[in-house]
Amino acid sequence: MHKGFTLWFTGLSGSGKSTLTDLLHEEFKRRGYRVEVLDGDVVRTNLSKGLGFSKEDRDINIRRIGFVCDLLSRNGVIAISAAISPYRDVRAECREMVESHDTPFIEVFTKCSLDELVRRDVKGLYKKALAGEIQNFTGVSDPYEEPENPDVLVESDSEPVEESLQKILSYLETRELIGKAE
Ligand code: ADX
Repeated sequence: MHKGFTLWFTGLSGSGKSTLTDLLHEEFKRRGYRVEVLDGDVVRTNLSKGLGFSKEDRDINIRRIGFVCDLLSRNGVIAISAAISPYRDVRAECREMVESHDTPFIEVFTKCSLDELVRRDVKGLYKKALAGEIQNFTGVSDPYEEPENPDVLVESDSEPVEESLQKILSYLETRELIGKAE
């Protein structure tokens, strides 16, 4: 039916990670697949409660999420991570950990221009960050290292969400990680 693998989203806040992972979660559940989502906002209320947004804390957060994704996916579950994961080296570490257990690690980059993110500003955080009310805000006053060679590139400011979803599903089908939709 499907293999165990880690589907790792990376991208700025508001770039569509949670929207896409929610849709994938629903779709995989509908197909009867075993799937878990680790969303940064949610993980930070439990597993990573108390961590802030310094580089050190973000790295700990991402390593924890990577660790859980590894445990799940090597046991046949589709583990989906939806955290900004701004640093290339820690994303690479997570990939190495997962792949060292012969489990595929698929990186999805939700690319979106800062202009569009500021325009959308669903959570109202960009406005605050630009006004200097939130320090170290990714993309505004804190680094985001774009993936150089993501497995799937989603351009959420120019393509409809349905198209992005199909892109990801098609990629997974081509890799024979999931079955074809019925
Ligand atoms: S990560 O950098 O450690 O991967 P994570 O995805 O868990 O970040 O959390 C990001 C979410 O925290 C954002 O979507 C936003 O809602 C919130 N947030 C609060 N402060 C910040 C900040 N300084 N930088 C980025 N996101 C922040």
